[in-house]
Amino acid sequence: MKLSQQVIYQIYPKSFYDSDGDGIGDLRGIISKIDYLKQLNIDMIWFNPFFVSPQNDNGYDIADYYRIDPTFGTMADFEELVATLKAAGIGVMLDMVFNHTSTQHEWFQKALAGDETYQKFYYLRPAKADGSLPTNWESKFGGPALGPIGDTGLYYLHLYDPTQADLDWHNPAVREACAEVVNFWRDKGVQGFRFDVINVTGKSEQLVDAPTGVASKTLYTDTPIVHDYLKELNEASFGQDPDSITVGEMSSTTIKNSIGYTKPSNHELSMVFNFHHLKTDYVDGRKWSRMAFDFPRLKQLLDGWAAGMDAGGGWQALFWNNHDQPRALNRFGDAGQYRVKSAEMLATVIHLMRGTPFIYMGEEIGMVDPYYDSMADYADIEALNAYRALVRSGYSHKDAFTIVRTKARDNSRTPMQWDATPKAGFTTGRPWLRPTNQQTINVADELDHGEIFNYYQQLIHLRKTMPIIADGTYKTWRLDDQQVFGYWRQLGEQQLLVLNNFYPTATTVKLPEAMVNAEVLLSNYPDVVVQADLQLQPYQSVALLLN
Ligand code: GLC
Repeated sequence: MKLSQQVIYQIYPKSFYDSDGDGIGDLRGIISKIDYLKQLNIDMIWFNPFFVSPQNDNGYDIADYYRIDPTFGTMADFEELVATLKAAGIGVMLDMVFNHTSTQHEWFQKALAGDETYQKFYYLRPAKADGSLPTNWESKFGGPALGPIGDTGLYYLHLYDPTQADLDWHNPAVREACAEVVNFWRDKGVQGFRFDVINVTGKSEQLVDAPTGVASKTLYTDTPIVHDYLKELNEASFGQDPDSITVGEMSSTTIKNSIGYTKPSNHELSMVFNFHHLKTDYVDGRKWSRMAFDFPRLKQLLDGWAAGMDAGGGWQALFWNNHDQPRALNRFGDAGQYRVKSAEMLATVIHLMRGTPFIYMGEEIGMVDPYYDSMADYADIEALNAYRALVRSGYSHKDAFTIVRTKARDNSRTPMQWDATPKAGFTTGRPWLRPTNQQTINVADELDHGEIFNYYQQLIHLRKTMPIIADGTYKTWRLDDQQVFGYWRQLGEQQLLVLNNFYPTATTVKLPEAMVNAEVLLSNYPDVVVQADLQLQPYQSVALLLN
């Protein structure tokens, strides 16, 4: 099946299903839930990393790219998982974390022991003449991005946690080692690869200080050399398989660069994730802040990216949720009264757009953020650091907690809610993160009498059967509407108008004259009357098709 017809599902293995009662999800757990996944009719599953790791950043700190962490299972379990999914018509996408390794990785350990070959795998730099750190760069998880490496007298770069050391991609041996990892997993039948923060690999060899008032990330993010690195990796590994599917996680990228990353003739990647739309509830671009989402800005971004990528022949991954984001329902929908309708509305927005939709586990049953009342419930290193930093900068404990609660990554990492029991049917042990709302939101109830899962099935079916959804062009609909985000899709003579009400109040949309004769392809409310003044109920989506 063509990429444009496919839908990808994301599983956070630690939280999907625990088969052995240790409170942590595992591969055998996933194998036992394949029938559920099959019902959705998804084409591929992206798994967050389950390689050997000290788990300081939940597996994004890899100590061995070639082995499965025993917490998650064995290589035999993995092989069985691939084979069983294949039999169900589902492909596997693995998470390749190549910007950094764990400091427990053999390469770093050798560097630490003074082995020069491996010292060249990382950014090792001496202190400045005045004894201060080699650069003033900030870690994305807080604090300086450089730390001393043993007693070598040198410092190493870590853009994330101090236990995640940045690899130096200038070194061809590093790039070859990464291609080798990809090829190892390809030999195991893997055809999908997600490349973690791949556009921060293009640092310059000289780690220059960021001028005062300039964020250090602007110096190393999305630089031109990343295109060269990707072309090389493509040629040396996944590009040899015409059916491979790849996605790059692109921090603060641009439309222009994203076209470059994904235009088929460039031989870089199949598609990219960008995050601009998920920053529309950040005050002045600061994640650890709180505000209602800026709807006009959200529309501008969704529209600008869809139109820009279409015009330039690029391809985007479409998503609201992942393991790094609070649940979209709490941010852009309504986690309470209109949970069901707003879940369907948000799904409509991305599934009928041009690009490849990603579903993050639990989204298809309308999962929302957990209700935690103390920091003791949170596990993520980023949230714990942010809380401390907020308090240090003068926020009261209460205010700091309120901010962390709205933005913490743990919000989406809580266990998949299979049923209404105290452990949500996820484990027989003590779940590593506590579920709090499984009584009202769980798979058993959803499949029994819910409508969200069924609505996702319809959206996925439409993409597979309607060329206008998979391959139609994208066109802007009125950007000035105060509460509706709409867009056109077009293929030959056919036109599809998708209208989405982002608010809990009803509204009316003036339809273009010709559309009064359109048929209702899909809506999350029954009995839509197509007329010049089209009524939209709270969080209603309507897709109108004109042949
Ligand atoms: C990506 C991952 C995130 C991780 C970070 C560092 O953003 O999605 O979970 O913490 O990279 O690897």
